[in-house]
Amino acid sequence: MRKETPGPENFNEISIERKAGTMKISVIGTGYVGLVAGTCLAEFGHEVTCIDRIKEKIDCLKSGKCPIHEEGLEDLIKKNAAAGRLDFSTDLATSVSNSQAVFLGVGTPEGPSGKTDLSALRGAARQVAQNMRGYTLVVIKSTVPVGTAEEISRLINHNIRHLATFDIVSNPEFLRQGTAVYDFLNPERVILGASSETGVKLIREIYESFVERDIPIIETTNETAEVIKYAANSFLAVKISFINEMASICQKVNADISQISRALGMDRRIAPGCLNPGPGFGGSCLPKDVKSLIYTARGAKYRFRLGRAALDVNKHQHKAVVDKLRQTLGSLRRKRIALLGVAFKANTDDTRESPAIHIARRLYREGAELVAYDPVAMKLGKIDIPEVAFVDSAYDACYNADATLLLTEWQEFRELDFARIKMLMARPVLHDTRNCLDGQKMIALGFEYKDNGRMTRPSAIGTSRQVEASSLSLNFESSSGKHEKISPPVSASGAVALGKS
Ligand code: UGA
Repeated sequence: MRKETPGPENFNEISIERKAGTMKISVIGTGYVGLVAGTCLAEFGHEVTCIDRIKEKIDCLKSGKCPIHEEGLEDLIKKNAAAGRLDFSTDLATSVSNSQAVFLGVGTPEGPSGKTDLSALRGAARQVAQNMRGYTLVVIKSTVPVGTAEEISRLINHNIRHLATFDIVSNPEFLRQGTAVYDFLNPERVILGASSETGVKLIREIYESFVERDIPIIETTNETAEVIKYAANSFLAVKISFINEMASICQKVNADISQISRALGMDRRIAPGCLNPGPGFGGSCLPKDVKSLIYTARGAKYRFRLGRAALDVNKHQHKAVVDKLRQTLGSLRRKRIALLGVAFKANTDDTRESPAIHIARRLYREGAELVAYDPVAMKLGKIDIPEVAFVDSAYDACYNADATLLLTEWQEFRELDFARIKMLMARPVLHDTRNCLDGQKMIALGFEYKDNGRMTRPSAIGTSRQVEASSLSLNFESSSGKHEKISPPVSASGAVALGKS
């Protein structure tokens, strides 16, 4: 999409000055997308200024600190800042007027009824228009609904103040939080949506490293690029909800979800990713993007049934975790529950749409007393769920607890001393919603252990009848009505018999 303002004769000959192979780039927005993109573009050798209107964020970045928990990002920021290729500023005007390319990486959160809120993007685009000089390549990195590039193009055209021309490229990002730097530097594909050859030529130069490495590049229209992003995230959401449904079925029919996921993943048409069952998908992308596509489809008079089903299953996952705990503990009122993890997945401090937060709220509504621990997400968790007590370690969380819920798959949780945890707990109920732990081991330690659709039992040949019977014997409340520490029955072989739910 190439647009120009009316101007002098030589308008289209405005030169694009740059050192061979490198460009001056402004990246607007220092959230996950903008900060990772800016830092990695500097790593490619470009001169990058990351812009944000929040001064504290910029001050933090200038001091060499990374405001988000993202593997490898802080080191890369320090390295590129020290090399003079990466700078941070609140001064959008100066940076944009000196840039050959501007990447828009601001947030596009969920607005009312699932519609994407584009106000930050529109605001950034307006300022870019008012300050750009000469030729500027405008790259939309933020996830935006179909038609946004067209709208932003019109908006820029209306707001240009200086002698300027521009192209817009839609270049959606597929990075995952926790592995964002790796994903940016090693994409599986690069999507370039544009309607002008100049725009595509320039972005290919910016991404020379991808071109050299033969990373597949799909050149398409702005609209198709925009839909690709939503299609990808919606597909992942559907896939996760699908495997969560399979895990629920497994729990009822004595089948093992781990082996099913493995077998499905071996089919090249299915692929192994996003086949781990859990308490539901969360984060700032999947839930919001499915809703946004539902909204877009509705606007086009189409009902996106699969998207709705994925969200429906996802909501059910939160309820299912609470129901399962209630089945074990009876009423949750005054029950002390330890929550291990509040981040929406491991290796991030992000709690947006975290299943752990949704589950905590449900438990709280049922009168449970909640104590939580997360290795890095406690700061944000405390804001989301102020009614929960946060403590400094998993052991502190489990102290005197009637049940422990493992909600985020942190490596730290896999390595806990569960013998110690069992001793600390008032009742050794352990629900592993992410299938992180060795179920056999937990059962042998004496936990009333439940996972998410695996066949965790003393031996793979145990019958369902045995499993159910032992399960019942452990879901026990003493005559006093108080939970007591109970010793699970031990089989002749010394293994503890306990079934999955
Ligand atoms: C997601 C996509 O995976 C990225 O490709 C995309 O670029 C990004 O959104 C975005 O739009 O910016 P992310 O939100 O970081 O990335 O997280 P995922 O790793 O996809 O996980 C999303 C949620 O699904 C998490 O809550 C995770 O725990 C859950 N999940 C994931 C499962 O329950 N099971 C799985 O097998 C995989």
